[in-house]
Amino acid sequence: MKRTVTKSIVVGCLAVLASVPVTVAAGGAATVAPDDVAFTDLTVTAPVSAPPGDPVRGAEVFVSRSLGNCLACHEVTVLKKELFHGNVGPSLDGAGDRWSVAQLRAIVVDAKKVFGPEAMMPGFYSNHVGLHVDKEHAGKTILTADQVEDVVAFLVTLKE
Ligand code: HEC
Repeated sequence: MKRTVTKSIVVGCLAVLASVPVTVAAGGAATVAPDDVAFTDLTVTAPVSAPPGDPVRGAEVFVSRSLGNCLACHEVTVLKKELFHGNVGPSLDGAGDRWSVAQLRAIVVDAKKVFGPEAMMPGFYSNHVGLHVDKEHAGKTILTADQVEDVVAFLVTLKE
């Protein structure tokens, strides 16, 4: 999973990260706090929020520039009609075949715990989003627990 990255891609990516507005996780009783999410063998087995994820809402979070902004880095054929998609990260076509639900949840919660601290993908449900986060966003998660489950439910639908 180690990828070589050229400097221009890194710079472009920092610009992407800088443009990701951050919302505070609601932290209701039915959610697992970011620091309490249990990683086992690069998976997160238990949902981080009680309501089942909704793939339609997940697709909305995925494309939303103010939320997941996943399209900034990932291509997905079923979303090809959407405006711009980047190719910094791998195409997510077939991600639902390549990864288990627990692996997908781990990647969305905190890609750095799966791909290593150098991973460019931000930790979307982590209090330690990465090095390149401005002060006002420190200590807040990008996605809420519900949004994490919605995005995971959407990723599961991406079959070849
Ligand atoms: C800043 C760019 C960036 C953003 C934004 C980003 N990713 Fe990623 N993602 C990557 C990169 C790069 C990889 C490859 C692993 C690595 O080196 O980090 C990756 C890997 C993945 C993988 C595993 C890919 C595979 O091999 O099948 C999944 C799934 C994934 N991302 C989902 C998401 C989702 C969902 C979002 C939005 C919530 C998202 N990514 C946002 C850059 C990004």
